[in-house]
Amino acid sequence: MPEQGPEAADAQREHWQRTYTGHPGMYGEAPSAAAVHAAAVFCVAGARDVLELGAGHGRDALYFAGCGFTVRATDYSPAGLEQLSTRAKELGLDPAVSATVHDVRRPLSLPDRSVDAVFAHMLMCMALSTPEIHRLTDEVRRVLRPGGTFVYTVRHTGDAHYGAGTAHGDDVFEHGGFAVHFFDRALVDALAEGWDLREVHAFEEGDLPRRLWRITQTLPGGRAPAREDGERRGDGPPRRDT
Ligand SMILES: C[S@@+](CC[C@H](N)C(=O)[O-])C[C@H]1O[C@@H](n2cnc3c(N)ncnc32)[C@H](O)[C@@H]1O
Repeated sequence: MPEQGPEAADAQREHWQRTYTGHPGMYGEAPSAAAVHAAAVFCVAGARDVLELGAGHGRDALYFAGCGFTVRATDYSPAGLEQLSTRAKELGLDPAVSATVHDVRRPLSLPDRSVDAVFAHMLMCMALSTPEIHRLTDEVRRVLRPGGTFVYTVRHTGDAHYGAGTAHGDDVFEHGGFAVHFFDRALVDALAEGWDLREVHAFEEGDLPRRLWRITQTLPGGRAPAREDGERRGDGPPRRDT
């Protein structure tokens, strides 16, 4: 996909804005299976804080906060993030969750080595060109602490919608107004260069179903510190009563 001009990028953002406004809470309240898995991985790694990219209306950000993580949720749709913030207040989780409007085509507004874990469910496969995806992965690498964990999911070339709708080049196809960059394995491997690629797990979500990969990769270096109170130890992430 050629680098998109501001008009095409704005059109996709407006599409997401309209979608969240017209269908509040469209992904439901339950966390994605990918987030449940990621929380357990982050927990074992001793992570305390999570940066979520493309958080939408926050089904996963709120789950992470309920598990006891401090969450920075980002998305380029203010409508989605407003729903996230409202629900966080209702659940009493607002002290643990911040919501910031951010387009991942731009550098992350966080210092180097400042977060323990990054999560992105179906964000890396949005209408991003291959160079934009590489730059985003470099940004994730920059903000993660040594030993930090990146869990992301993407629709892949085995998905039913791969090749359907309007072709934009670079394996991006637009269907029903949503543009998706379908990943092949070579792109996953290229993004893992310099990381420790822990897992590429195939799974499905939704009625279509969407066919996805869940990728877990870690940076070399020190392990993120475990919490002093031992809250992160155990078989899985503890839920905070809300
Ligand atoms: C398929 S939705 C997934 C939402 C959320 N992760 C979930 O699973 O509930 C993709 C999300 O990415 C956001 N998004 C797409 N392109 C983006 C970009 N360039 N920068 C930031 N967010 C983006 C959309 O607004 C949308 O919320």
